Amino acid sequence: MPRPLALPPEGTIAPFAELPVDFVGSYPDPATRLEPELPELAFIGRSNVGKSSLLNALTGRKGLARVSATPGKTQTMNVFRLPGFYLIDLPGYGFAKASKVNRAAYRRLVEGYLTRRETLTGVVWLLDSRHDPSKDDLTFQELLATSGRPVLAVLTKADKLTRREQAERPAAIAAALGVPGDQVQLVSAETGLGIADLGESILTAIRGEPA
Ligand code: GTP
Ligand code: MG
Repeated sequence: MPRPLALPPEGTIAPFAELPVDFVGSYPDPATRLEPELPELAFIGRSNVGKSSLLNALTGRKGLARVSATPGKTQTMNVFRLPGFYLIDLPGYGFAKASKVNRAAYRRLVEGYLTRRETLTGVVWLLDSRHDPSKDDLTFQELLATSGRPVLAVLTKADKLTRREQAERPAAIAAALGVPGDQVQLVSAETGLGIADLGESILTAIRGEPA
């Protein structure tokens, strides 16, 4: 059991800002064992959806995970260690310009990771709050369902929505995914909206408590 972590002080925008965070490494092989063995949460979503930015927002380290101007930049699993758990930045899916070889390698990495990774505690699945789930998102949803992993659906780039859209998009996307409305969380790495709540959800998932 990981040691329980103190919750961030109220109003802290980056919930893990006070915690030590180490970049452990980048690994192309999803079977890579990490030492020590700790529960891990994986960040995944369409290429360019904001996975790396979200990791940076949670930890309050701007340059921790590389934010890409070129979509499809993250090609390996990038591992970050926090006290008692790992956060893993997985490469994005659905990068239109990726070659066939890259796509096959990608599928191998992510499928292998989702189906066989014993230390995987949950998946933080990122979707762009501005758009309905894409074909790639829905394909990935099937893969997730098959894997049986607990999933936290996070809607990114909320700062690009109007106030009205911020109120309406979560329910619309939840409906498109066929999940209850309270199972999606709206966030912005830019303004910090929803980041503290997401930090709490992550700690809850790591501790293995029901959400
Ligand atoms: P890959 O690793 O290439 O799959 O991308 P990623 O999912 O890690 O996305 P990344 O964090 O690199 O962000 C992609 C682009 O979206 C960058 O230009 C970011 O600045 C932008 N972005 C990410 N999060 C937000 C956000 O909350 N708001 C806004 N406005 N832009 C964002
Ligand atoms: Mg990235």
